[in-house]
Amino acid sequence: MLNTLRQYGQEHIISYYHTLDTAGKAKLEQQLSGMDLSVLEGLEHRAEEERGSFMPLGALTIDEIRSREKLFMVQGLNALQNGKVGAVLLAGGQGTRLGLDGPKGTLNVGITRELYLFECLVQNLLQVVRRCGSWVPLYVMTSEKNNADTIAFFQEHKYFGYDGSQVRFFVQEMAPCTDFSGKMMLEAPGTVCSSPNGNGGWFSSMVRAGLLEDLKSRGVEWLNVFAVDNVLQQIADPCFIGATITSGCESGAKVVAKADPDERVGVLCLEDGKPSIVEYYEMTEEMRTLREPGGRLSYNYGVILNYLFRVEKLEKIMHQQMPVHMVKKKIPYMNEAGEQIKPDEPNGYKFETLVLDMIHMQDSCLSYEVKRNREFAPIKNATGVDSLESARELLRFNGVSL
Ligand code: UTP
Repeated sequence: MLNTLRQYGQEHIISYYHTLDTAGKAKLEQQLSGMDLSVLEGLEHRAEEERGSFMPLGALTIDEIRSREKLFMVQGLNALQNGKVGAVLLAGGQGTRLGLDGPKGTLNVGITRELYLFECLVQNLLQVVRRCGSWVPLYVMTSEKNNADTIAFFQEHKYFGYDGSQVRFFVQEMAPCTDFSGKMMLEAPGTVCSSPNGNGGWFSSMVRAGLLEDLKSRGVEWLNVFAVDNVLQQIADPCFIGATITSGCESGAKVVAKADPDERVGVLCLEDGKPSIVEYYEMTEEMRTLREPGGRLSYNYGVILNYLFRVEKLEKIMHQQMPVHMVKKKIPYMNEAGEQIKPDEPNGYKFETLVLDMIHMQDSCLSYEVKRNREFAPIKNATGVDSLESARELLRFNGVSL
């Protein structure tokens, strides 16, 4: 471990080691050995600075999908009935913007009754299960911070009607946080400041948890990965699965047409000829406003964190280093005088890899357009845009009584 810390110039982090008792030493060693230190390479190679040249990418539009729906449905239902598709719920985030204490999926979106985010997702998946007549294995990624609470919540609510034996939980890795000069920080003499390492490591974490054997023994060939905070999320959607398989693409991404040129959403496009997602803050004014001859925006299709990946391809790319994103954050820490500090302003970085960067590791990706008001109601903020209020409105629009 000391060698790895030296390699990253972080030996200072064990300066209190000699003051710890045996249990404290063991705990620190365990924390460090379970941590993803490779993200610190982000300090040298910032993801945002290493982009190639972008080109627009169209989508299989809602109308095109409708005209071939029967074919796609047959293909998709067939894959589901043959157990070839698994669902992966990314629930390891901290939901800091929402300021919720506990796993985000435990948020009650109901008003006159209880209706939890996790419950909405499971109910959506259950519709597919009923339609195809077979269970879809559900893998739930948590983090060290919310794993126990998440499992307890599912158990307490009897998996919201799902077959508990079809649900497997796995824990993602943590990454160290650093100050602005790139030095790791301590929370306490024997505890390093850390946060979940982003949603990009989900497949490696599944493999580390021994779930590759589970996928293989079931014959799962495709994984549908999705976010916890979209209450309208359509999971293991047979039409999407069928369209992706029919297209011959290695992966698929659900997209929505942008509401306006300045919408803050990542756009599926081509980067150096390969599929990729360009973040809204990476787009130039020209890219944002460029239009096709028919009038629609050239960079028009925003991703909604609902992707379909081939397990075979995931195995091939899982050891490739992913771009590391650094986010400025308020990180509580212990100063040199041993005092606990809770900063009012961001004082350091948290490091994350992102699932959207996996798209650029694919040779091809089907851009599959869906109706925004039917499938996209994310809850990111306490109020305003993408909030509990806006999600409730969309749930009502879709006939869900709250
Ligand atoms: P977000 O990027 O919205 O992050 O996650 P978040 O942690 O939920 O919220 P903020 O940014 O702190 O407010 C998108 C999806 O990725 C998952 C989240 O649970 C959500 O489903 N995620 C995010 C992880 O599983 N692990 C992570 O480390 C980060």
